[in-house]
Amino acid sequence: MTQALPKVIIHGGAGGALAHPDVLNALRHDLHAIVEQIYSKAEAGASARDCVVFGCQLLEDTPRFNAGYGSVLQSDGQVRMSAGLMDGSTQRFSGIINVSRVRHPIDLAAYLQPAPDRVLSDLGAAELAREMRIEPFDPVTDLRLKEWMQERAHNFQRSMAGVVAEPIDSAGSGDSEARRGTIGVVVLDQEGRLAVGTSTGGKGLERLGRVSDSATVAGNYANGVAAVSCTGIGEDIIDECLASRIVVRVTDGMAIAAALEKSFAEATANGRDFGAIALSHRGEIAWGKTSDVLLAAYHTGEAVGDTLELSSGTLTGVVQL
Ligand code: GLY
Repeated sequence: MTQALPKVIIHGGAGGALAHPDVLNALRHDLHAIVEQIYSKAEAGASARDCVVFGCQLLEDTPRFNAGYGSVLQSDGQVRMSAGLMDGSTQRFSGIINVSRVRHPIDLAAYLQPAPDRVLSDLGAAELAREMRIEPFDPVTDLRLKEWMQERAHNFQRSMAGVVAEPIDSAGSGDSEARRGTIGVVVLDQEGRLAVGTSTGGKGLERLGRVSDSATVAGNYANGVAAVSCTGIGEDIIDECLASRIVVRVTDGMAIAAALEKSFAEATANGRDFGAIALSHRGEIAWGKTSDVLLAAYHTGEAVGDTLELSSGTLTGVVQL
């Protein structure tokens, strides 16, 4: 089989405008460092699926992002995380919903890839973590706890937490714009295989039992032709069935740029708030957003780029190769 340069695109959330250029620079630093590490693994010959799991672990370990360590707290002050993984070469989806006290929710989704039962929630997720002998891990950071305490003091007037962990100033306005987060990784490996993974702490401040899009085929989907990871308001992503919709459009012959343009035009008309990153089997790297910002970075095999900006309206983009 002929080998091609791998491609990687990752995201660390989407949502309202960033508060300050310093936040943008810090995000750029983290995202570029992580995309470089994933690319190195892919360049060394790792499968798309292994690269995706590795990339999700790195993003879950970065407290700035709302997944794994640094996840937002739900309305009852607890962290419950969800993750989805899809291997495009086998077209198999696996996922974990509302798991607590683990460091890498993506590991549970990866473990379930060959299993007969491939999406587990709460009790089943806890039992799986025990079966995998995963050491209990507390994902709560001081900043996320402070954010929740601040909301508690204001009687939970906001319906969701901030996407990026930023210090809250004394007036509580450091993160006043509601912003949604999730992390995602899409990889095309040297053998031409696609895979995608998505992991989240949810919207934050949500009611118990709420299910995120991330461990559904609306938020995370791949086949042999395209792969997509979504971020933003899970309910909006589910209503548009966004990841599957884009992948099906590309599979049916639409160019990836056109598939994103059409899907995001529909999303704009429907008043949605989210973003998505995508790769085609041809190596086209693409993204779209209706949110003010999409925190994404990519590696083309030759250079690193990103979608970072303080704020702007609906946009789709593609790196043509
Ligand atoms: N997209 C993450 C969530 O809404 O849970």
